[in-house]
Amino acid sequence: LVLVVDFGAQYAQLIARRVREARVYSEIVPHTLPVEEMLAKKPKAIILSGGPSSVYAEGAPSIDTSLFEADLPVFGMCYGFQLMAQGLGGTVDNNGYREYGRTPVTISEPGTLLADMPVAHNVWMSHGDSVSQAPEGFTVLASTEGTPVAAFENVERGFAGVQWHPEVLHSDHGQRVLEHFLWNIAGCRKTWTIGNIAEEQIARIKEQIGETGRAICGLSGGVDSAVAAAIVTKAIGDRLTCVYVDHGLMRKDETEQIERDFVAATGAKLVVVDAEEQFLTALAGVSEPEAKRKIIGREFIRTFEKAQADIIAAAPEGTTVGFLVQGTLYPDVVESGHGSGTSTIKSHHNVGGLPEDMEFELVEPLRTLFKDEVRAVGAQLGLPQEIVKRQPFPGPGLGIRIIGEVTKDRLDLLREADAIAREELTKSGLDDTIWQMPVVLLADVRSVGVQGDGRTYGHPIVLRPVTSEDAMTADWARLPYELLERISTRITNEVKDVNRVTVDITSKPPGTIEWE
Ligand code: XMP
Repeated sequence: LVLVVDFGAQYAQLIARRVREARVYSEIVPHTLPVEEMLAKKPKAIILSGGPSSVYAEGAPSIDTSLFEADLPVFGMCYGFQLMAQGLGGTVDNNGYREYGRTPVTISEPGTLLADMPVAHNVWMSHGDSVSQAPEGFTVLASTEGTPVAAFENVERGFAGVQWHPEVLHSDHGQRVLEHFLWNIAGCRKTWTIGNIAEEQIARIKEQIGETGRAICGLSGGVDSAVAAAIVTKAIGDRLTCVYVDHGLMRKDETEQIERDFVAATGAKLVVVDAEEQFLTALAGVSEPEAKRKIIGREFIRTFEKAQADIIAAAPEGTTVGFLVQGTLYPDVVESGHGSGTSTIKSHHNVGGLPEDMEFELVEPLRTLFKDEVRAVGAQLGLPQEIVKRQPFPGPGLGIRIIGEVTKDRLDLLREADAIAREELTKSGLDDTIWQMPVVLLADVRSVGVQGDGRTYGHPIVLRPVTSEDAMTADWARLPYELLERISTRITNEVKDVNRVTVDITSKPPGTIEWE
């Protein structure tokens, strides 16, 4: 275990991921956690992340220097590097230089940390203060124009640090710097592999649920719930029941992928609730986006709770269904304040004959994992590629990609257009270069066209391909013209009532990714 101490920059999660890419398990802890509690976790090494402040700023986060007396390897990056320098007796000051972005660095003495890399290369910097003097016993390894001490190490004590951000892709050789620290200075072993992630989780869940416990899992069609369900099925077999609410707003073939391929791959016990009519009836006549979202959310909870009640009622005599499986990921855990994982939630039942509040204990097999690890575990458990590689898809489904009232005919039309766009994107090999590509039907708009010998008066389709890191911001993806041409030609030829295809070239902000 390597602990990444988070000083409030957005980089801690990225560092934790890079450590795991070096096959060493990592967790993030807030810098406010007392040093004794950090040590109690028995880490093999500590990494101090970057942070937003100057070490001299009022209220700047600091680190208890007893950390440096604990006989534990420590690596500092950026702000963490300056904290180390300051805490160990070096000097940090503001020499008037600021460095932001790609910066050339020169290695004067590679030492262990910077071994086997070009003497001059580019790294990613973001700092105002600099270390002007390394602490005693440290070797200075590199400098930049504005930073006399840009990297240092003291291999006997297991200490090292760099002024730059080795975790970002813009830093050349960044991953190797991190690996030199982890493997060659801290002596961490490479034990974190996808194979043992799945096995460890299966063992842990067996223990949590016990010999007789029963669980329920809601499947959305997305990768997280599918992988969570696959892991729990491996642990407790048919004592897990998966529930999939088919609200009729899914894309083409998605329901079949769950019904047929997911079950074939995992052997999971699945209940599919066909609720299409119920949802379409509830949505009839509604075109305001928020109203649509509320209706879909409400109907979803109703349907899921009804299915849940049926499962509880049908459970064998003497057993209780006490567990609810959720696909919570590590970033959610970190962002919600490093919860301990023992929380329970209440599910409110408005279905006759059941207690008003049922208490479930949560089972969260993915709560230590990042998204890319979840995909890798899913692939290893044999889930179909279509599920494992699926791009984000909103809970309300195509309901919020039809601008206007949602009807069965419009859904079928959008499903055809979306399937063509996805098929062509996949064929072009560009799936991995974009974040997602919503396909939107402007159902209340019509325009004049000409097809064959006749005039048409049809609907436009909007393609919304975006690139993004986390969906908070996004840019429109510059897809090749040839690909856009193929999608456009096929959609207008093959989808009845569509006579125009357009591309949305708005970033987020000001636009959101979805149109509603
Ligand atoms: P926006 O449109 O807000 O979308 O830029 C950001 C990301 O969130 C997805 N999205 C949703 N996901 N339920 C979900 O599970 C929703 O109601 C929902 N609305 C938007 C969207 O696809 C994008 O990835």
